[in-house]
Amino acid sequence: SPSDPDLVARARAAKEKLGDKVFVLGHHYQRDEVIQFADVTGDSFKLARDAAARPEAEYIVFCGVHFMAESADILTSDDQKVVLPDLAAGCSMADMATAEQVAECWDVLTEAGVAERVVPVSYMNSSADIKAFTGKHGGTICTSSNARRALEWAFQQGEQVLFLPDQHLGRNTAVRDLGMSLEDCVVYNPHKPNGGLTADELRAAKMILWRGHCSVHGRFSLDSVNDVRERVPGVNVLVHPECRHEVVAAADYVGSTEYIIKTLEAAPAGSKWAIGTELNLVRRLANRFAGEGKEIVFLDRTVCFCSTMNRIDLPHLVWTLESLAEGTLVNRIEVDRETEAFAKLALERMLALP
Ligand code: 13P
Ligand code: SF4
Repeated sequence: SPSDPDLVARARAAKEKLGDKVFVLGHHYQRDEVIQFADVTGDSFKLARDAAARPEAEYIVFCGVHFMAESADILTSDDQKVVLPDLAAGCSMADMATAEQVAECWDVLTEAGVAERVVPVSYMNSSADIKAFTGKHGGTICTSSNARRALEWAFQQGEQVLFLPDQHLGRNTAVRDLGMSLEDCVVYNPHKPNGGLTADELRAAKMILWRGHCSVHGRFSLDSVNDVRERVPGVNVLVHPECRHEVVAAADYVGSTEYIIKTLEAAPAGSKWAIGTELNLVRRLANRFAGEGKEIVFLDRTVCFCSTMNRIDLPHLVWTLESLAEGTLVNRIEVDRETEAFAKLALERMLALP
């Protein structure tokens, strides 16, 4: 989308004035008008790692969603300030697991006599509270780029895994990468008594999947895959692991946003690709690779932005950078110390995965 030249100039001027005091991170789902100002772009794993790599920056401006900014705050030093340009940029999946619900779930697992055998593995897309719960109970965080290694690690620590909050990433990783069967997985529904499961079901499951999902990736269906294969003969289907299991099972390639980009960079000219992920990224890739003769289409023709990622727009970024340049700290994301200590434990276990 073409950005307002006046706003572009203002963002540039404010960023120049701030110099090394500011470090701007941009997730791959951000708008073009925002991503042009990112000092580094990446998937959730890369951004978590890179946030900690600039200790000299007083301000970390996180162009992404709330849980990413929280994770950056946890992993950076206390005097660095993490700023989210629009506080309403949340994530509907992260909101599907609250601290109270997860504490209740742990009580259910304890009563069923399985808690001591269970290792929690929480997707990065979760609140700092959930990450702290995970750290407290000996578990790790994962992202879509290391979920396999996280699960392998967890099954060395215990016999069962409680996977929060994305049931699809949990199921896809268990079945595709660890060779489990669908019957090894049960779904814990926080809106039902005892999660809707009997104690026997809880005891028999290898994977206890939280009933959460991404509303953006949930739109892709098996029909989307079949239709695009018919429409574009010879197409390679490449999807994000937040997609439903039948979509992932029917795809040719599966991986994080960074993996999607790397795969397309390595693809030969003349190849055709249908991408199942957020639309800002797919559009950017289609434009970028059109000149190289790689045809890139959206997996489903229904428009599919992540509405919360899209909340970070150029006007919000300009306001943020100008405020910081004037010495006014706005929209700081700060995790309290106790939560931070346990959440950090879980995040550091992820960063230490082989
Ligand atoms: P990755 O960028 O880690 O693949 O995950 C994206 C995502 O869904 C963020 O919400
Ligand atoms: Fe959350 Fe899905 Fe948006 Fe990612 S794409 S931020 S998981 S709602």
